[in-house]
Amino acid sequence: MQQELGSRKAVGPSFMWQFIRLLLYLMSCLVWCGLAFMLIACDRGTANDTEQTSSSEFLSRHWPAVLPPQGKPPAAFTSLEASLDPQSCGECHVAQFKQWQSSLHSHTMGAGIQWQLQLMSQQAGNKCLRCHAPLAEQKALVALKHNWPNAPDKALPDWLPANLADAGLVCAACHVRRHQYFGPPAKQTTQTTSGDFPHAGFTASKAFQDSRFCATCHQHNEKDNPPRVNGKLQEDTWNQWQQSPQAQQGIHCQNCHMPDRQHLWRGIHDADMTRQALDIQLRLKRTGVNTVNVEVALHNQGAGHHFPTYMVPKVTLIFSLRNKDSGKEHIFHRYVIGWQVNVALTEEQFDTRIPAGEIRHLKIPLTLPEADAHWDVELAVEVMPREHYERTFLQSLKYADKLPAKTLNILRQALSEAQATHYRLLQLQEPVPLWNIAN
Ligand code: HEC
Ligand code: HEC
Ligand code: HEC
Ligand code: HEC
Ligand code: HEC
Repeated sequence: MQQELGSRKAVGPSFMWQFIRLLLYLMSCLVWCGLAFMLIACDRGTANDTEQTSSSEFLSRHWPAVLPPQGKPPAAFTSLEASLDPQSCGECHVAQFKQWQSSLHSHTMGAGIQWQLQLMSQQAGNKCLRCHAPLAEQKALVALKHNWPNAPDKALPDWLPANLADAGLVCAACHVRRHQYFGPPAKQTTQTTSGDFPHAGFTASKAFQDSRFCATCHQHNEKDNPPRVNGKLQEDTWNQWQQSPQAQQGIHCQNCHMPDRQHLWRGIHDADMTRQALDIQLRLKRTGVNTVNVEVALHNQGAGHHFPTYMVPKVTLIFSLRNKDSGKEHIFHRYVIGWQVNVALTEEQFDTRIPAGEIRHLKIPLTLPEADAHWDVELAVEVMPREHYERTFLQSLKYADKLPAKTLNILRQALSEAQATHYRLLQLQEPVPLWNIAN
């Protein structure tokens, strides 16, 4: 830790100022959301809360702008019940723990945010932590790591594991307030709730099945006047969902992202999930002796929001023409689905996202090099789930000589992790129909 502080000081103040300004521009992600989706008081969830409590009241208590500390655990709790460690929850909730571990919610404190935190003040850093590691105890641990003011000076209690902040969006961030447990109404189960219930039972609320639960971190609040790019909010998933056909049918975020209450949260990083979203039809029409129209219909049939929802991912359609006899192939067209914004977040370059339920038609005229040969058109679809961050990280690497070695290493790691998420979604092939005078 000393070393870290030492190396931070080695960076000259004018550079720091410059860099912080750069960060403010560059930070691809959403400092600005400010307050929680539903602000309001952070008073204690009481035992009176029942399923009847309306979801919005529940949510405003459950997700205040800043989560209050848990405080001391009840004396009757075993150390297992008192612990905020996801692994402790996992002792009893084995399935949820395994699923969560495989999800991106357990990676919200990865290299991509860590290198940035090293260059930030506590105030700026806490704005990021609101979504990436929201418990008060996690913020205190991050403060300790970075020698920020207000870091805890006492030894950590045993219910607070030293690595809790690095664990990301932990179980307790969604389920535990002041050592009281909250969850969705119990499924119809054989589980008895009589007798000694672990962690003194739990308070049920339907808010856990409401899209607004997720909006806390996946939607910028208009009331905070967040900055926009070309008039659009950087995070607008809940609004997009509200306009979707799925919302009309009462399908919430959880129905798609937590089927059967599984804690998987698969999204654009997952090929199967993304295939559910996008249906692609490819048709070729011969329009002349050596001309063809390539017609593509892109249907966002399975995402309950734009495909993709944020500016971050890019989905590229690569069209190539292959001579079936010689095997020779060349790319004749590319089309990118996504919202492309410059690294400084000031300018929109294009926005080709497809709203939920909508179909986008492309018509690409193609001239064949030889009319008589046999041709195939191939369409490959490539996904870069973190394209915007890749550009941000590359831009930041231009300042490599100004960065402390430790920060630079984490930045490089963030870039290579982002690049490692690329995958091919699918590949289609269609023979070019022969020219027929009757056409
Ligand atoms: C000693 C075992 C044990 C530990 C440790 C434990 N739980 Fe539980 N928990 C249970 C049991 C048993 C139930 C009731 C049956 C069920 O729903 O699985 C329950 C219920 C719940 C529920 C309500 C489920 C519903 O139907 O809505 C939530 C949420 C929950 N626990 C979260 C947690 C979290 C988060 C942690 C860690 C901070 C944790 N639990 C630690 C045993 C445990
Ligand atoms: C309103 C909630 C919110 C706030 C505040 C927030 N983020 Fe995020 N962040 C997200 C969400 C949601 C994602 C995933 C979607 C995406 O890729 O944009 C994400 C993704 C990221 C990623 C890419 C994933 C990775 O681990 O590489 C980075 C880096 C990141 N955020 C950094 C930051 C930084 C730095 C701040 C503070 C300046 C910040 N975020 C503030 C919600 C937030
Ligand atoms: C991002 C918030 C979030 C995190 C993190 C999270 N959960 Fe949940 N959990 C939920 C929501 C939302 C539901 C209700 C889903 C539904 O009903 O569709 C839920 C449901 C549950 C249930 C009830 C499951 C059932 O089948 O009845 C348990 C138990 C539970 N969570 C435990 C955990 C544990 C243990 C962890 C950590 C390993 C964890 N949760 C992490 C949001 C979260
Ligand atoms: C009808 C099912 C469905 C609903 C409802 C739904 N999603 Fe999705 N979501 C998907 C699919 C499929 C993908 C993968 C394709 C994509 O990225 O659009 C996805 C992707 C995502 C991503 C990945 C990032 C990105 O840029 O696309 C996030 C974050 C996300 N959803 C959050 C949410 C939230 C928050 C809600 C509720 C407000 C929600 N989703 C509602 C199906 C759904
Ligand atoms: C406390 C803030 C917070 C809450 C609450 C939250 N998320 Fe997230 N979520 C994040 C962050 C931060 C990420 C980015 C993880 C990363 O890429 O490092 C994320 C990532 C995701 C992803 C992965 C998208 C991808 O790129 O593949 C999905 C899907 C998702 N969240 C859905 C949900 C749903 C559904 C809910 C509600 C049950 C929810 N989230 C609640 C903060 C939150």
